[in-house]
Amino acid sequence: MRHLPLLAALTLAFGSSATAHAADVKAGQVRSAACAVCHGPQGLSMQPAVPHLAGQPEIYLIEQLKAYRSGKRANEVMGVIAKPLTDAEIENLAAWYSSITLRVEMP
Ligand code: HEC
Repeated sequence: MRHLPLLAALTLAFGSSATAHAADVKAGQVRSAACAVCHGPQGLSMQPAVPHLAGQPEIYLIEQLKAYRSGKRANEVMGVIAKPLTDAEIENLAAWYSSITLRVEMP
């Protein structure tokens, strides 16, 4: 019993350090307000030349945003948009869009 408080403190310390690195879906959702005009509020685009982001794999979205930011993937619009994004913002945005579940219904 005497060791319990120490154990709890350790658990808390590990818990908070783990969440500090984990992508923040909620923060990604907030940041995605800047993307909604083109990609839709839920990552479903309403414009024919803009791709859907909802349900895309997290790793894919991270790679694409980093490629736009570095210029490796060239696109006038997304190049400008990705330029100011930090790694953390990219991870949060990717976590948010990949967390959106799509239900496919077959005819
Ligand atoms: C002004 C419209 C516009 C805005 C705002 C915008 N995008 Fe895009 N986005 C596009 C277009 C157009 C493309 C397709 C570009 C291409 O052909 O490479 C694209 C492509 C992407 C892709 C690649 C998708 C794929 O399937 O490969 C990602 C990821 C992406 N956008 C994320 C974002 C995020 C995150 C934001 C907000 C921070 C954002 N976009 C804001 C227009 C926009």
